[in-house]
Amino acid sequence: MEKYKVLVTRRIPEEGLAMLAARCDIEMNPHDRPMSRPELLVAAAGKDGVLCLLTDKVNAELFDAAPTVRGYANYAVGYDNMDVAEASRRKIPLSNTPDVLTDATADMAWALLFSVARRVVESDTVMRSGSWNGWGPLQFIGGDIFGATLGIVGAGRIGAAMAARSKGFNMKVVYSDARPNEALERELGARRVELDELLAVSDYVSVHVPLMPETRHLFNAATFAKMKKTAYLINTSRGPVIDEAALVTALRDKTIAGAGLDVYEKEPLMADGLAALDNVVITPHTASATFASRRGMATKAATNLLAMLEGRLPPDCINPGVLG
Ligand code: DGY
Repeated sequence: MEKYKVLVTRRIPEEGLAMLAARCDIEMNPHDRPMSRPELLVAAAGKDGVLCLLTDKVNAELFDAAPTVRGYANYAVGYDNMDVAEASRRKIPLSNTPDVLTDATADMAWALLFSVARRVVESDTVMRSGSWNGWGPLQFIGGDIFGATLGIVGAGRIGAAMAARSKGFNMKVVYSDARPNEALERELGARRVELDELLAVSDYVSVHVPLMPETRHLFNAATFAKMKKTAYLINTSRGPVIDEAALVTALRDKTIAGAGLDVYEKEPLMADGLAALDNVVITPHTASATFASRRGMATKAATNLLAMLEGRLPPDCINPGVLG
């Protein structure tokens, strides 16, 4: 049987590649960096399918450059890198990788929450520098977590998993979402509130919304001003949900107490001044970077791509109408 020609835009865990290798000739980005736009347009041309990343723009320009591609499997749950409307118009299926990274991402949101509230990175830096002069009553005082109020912005899979972990810390949970999450209300006594109320009452605000026109800069100077001065903002969703320059100002002016960020507005860059602040913990978009989660993403993306190559609906199709 003739093999499908596929492009993998950056090396992924072996389990996914092995699944593809059985049925496909794979061209892989040879570099340990995202493909440049010209590299991607050239490499996709003539392929049957593409396994792509959140750093690849999947849009009309790519569809025009690669008219033989039968489907794009995103190696990510978020798919703001894909022009879904344009793909649907052209009857090109798209897929993502939900579920397998829910727990890893929720765990990372907590890692950031703990790190920034209890000043772990700042403390570590002082210890390594050899400048600690012994125990002191006023050193590294941070936010209380046990019994505090957690505000979840976007109570989908990951937001709900973040909230569930608060049980061990006896926290009150409020959430804002267009839709009620009954399980969250039943199991945690969580209360659905308007965003303004959430901002006013929360000690920790954790962001879990997808990036869409409505959520771009959802957090800005005006929203920071509505938060408690003692509150912390955690973001493991997408960078552009936060106006990063305004966040730098809010952190610098102590409008809010701190932030834990895994995502940035213009990755891999950060807003000027962010990295110089003590009251922010910054990680390089690694919330899903656990062994099981990345393996799961690889096998899901491969399963989805193989289905699209065979003309079947992929299990995690973003635009299922295209194969109806
Ligand atoms: C995603 O899947 O959308 C994350 O941002 C990367 O794992």
